[in-house]
Amino acid sequence: MKISIESAAEKLRAGELVAFATETVYGLGGNALDDAAVAEIFARKGRPGFNPLIIHVPDLVTAQRYVTLTPLAEKLADAFWPGALTLVLPRKMKCDVSLLASAGLDTLAIRVPAHEGARALLAEAGIPVAAPSANRSGRISPTRAEHVESEFGAQQLVVDGGACAVGLESTVVQAAAHVPVILRPGSVTAEMIERACGVAPQFAAAGDKVQAPGMLASHYAPSVKVRLNAVDVQPGEALLAFGGNVPEGAAAMRNLSEAGDVKEAAANLFAFLRELDDARFTAIAVMPIPHEGLGLAINDRLKRAAA
Ligand code: TXA
Ligand code: MG
Repeated sequence: MKISIESAAEKLRAGELVAFATETVYGLGGNALDDAAVAEIFARKGRPGFNPLIIHVPDLVTAQRYVTLTPLAEKLADAFWPGALTLVLPRKMKCDVSLLASAGLDTLAIRVPAHEGARALLAEAGIPVAAPSANRSGRISPTRAEHVESEFGAQQLVVDGGACAVGLESTVVQAAAHVPVILRPGSVTAEMIERACGVAPQFAAAGDKVQAPGMLASHYAPSVKVRLNAVDVQPGEALLAFGGNVPEGAAAMRNLSEAGDVKEAAANLFAFLRELDDARFTAIAVMPIPHEGLGLAINDRLKRAAA
């Protein structure tokens, strides 16, 4: 269903998902500050894992609220924002963007789109918007409002911004150090990047897995041991619970979802893991999570945390 920018902004603020045009491709947007909205994005896309999402903001000043701009990033932002460039940068200490949106990483992918409709929406919404391409997992990115409707059905709210001028996802560049690293090629080319910053970018080699968040060295893993499929609690353990039937005796406890809802559990996962990652505990015991819906991604992430 097509909706106006004003009503889309209101829906986003209220935690609903809205698809919108950018100059690259249509995005499936949700409030990046809201874990539940972000969990809903993953659920609707049907992604098997928690790929980190791109955060969309209206301008550079807003970006600086959430990430630390390196000198390299400043040059690139200066040259290509607003536009089809996404910068991967360290999250600020006080960054309140959902940890789920960046899949628990301590970096954030951020971009200022150039599309007039997208900019108006972001300005009107007044919140950062997490938005992957508005297609189901494993399918082609949509470049027209009609494509979004054929992906998600006519009930999907979409701001019609016409056909996307670029039609290819943004170039993703890791810009935390001195040398830019292209994680995903796009319409902002290596030559353009070199001209803007004076340094030839490196490419994350194909198959080098740098884009798979679980493989990144900086990926958040608890320093306390993680024990999976726990049905009881050992002395000194913290408990990451799931569901209504919780064993007693934990040194500390967080319940991912008392109602046993995997979507709610996904929304809480990274924040609760961080809270329980404390040297006071001998381990974090994690109760079994069903392998259905977002439960697959949760189990995948927990397996990495326990490895
Ligand atoms: O053009 C685009 O970029 C579109 C529009 C809607 O902005 N969005 C898009 O998002 O293509 P998505 O989720 O389909 O792709 C995001 C890419 C993925 O390759 C992901 O791995 C990478 O960005 N990414 C996101 N956060 C990252 C991070 N912290 N570190 C490394 N890679 C990251
Ligand atoms: Mg995509």
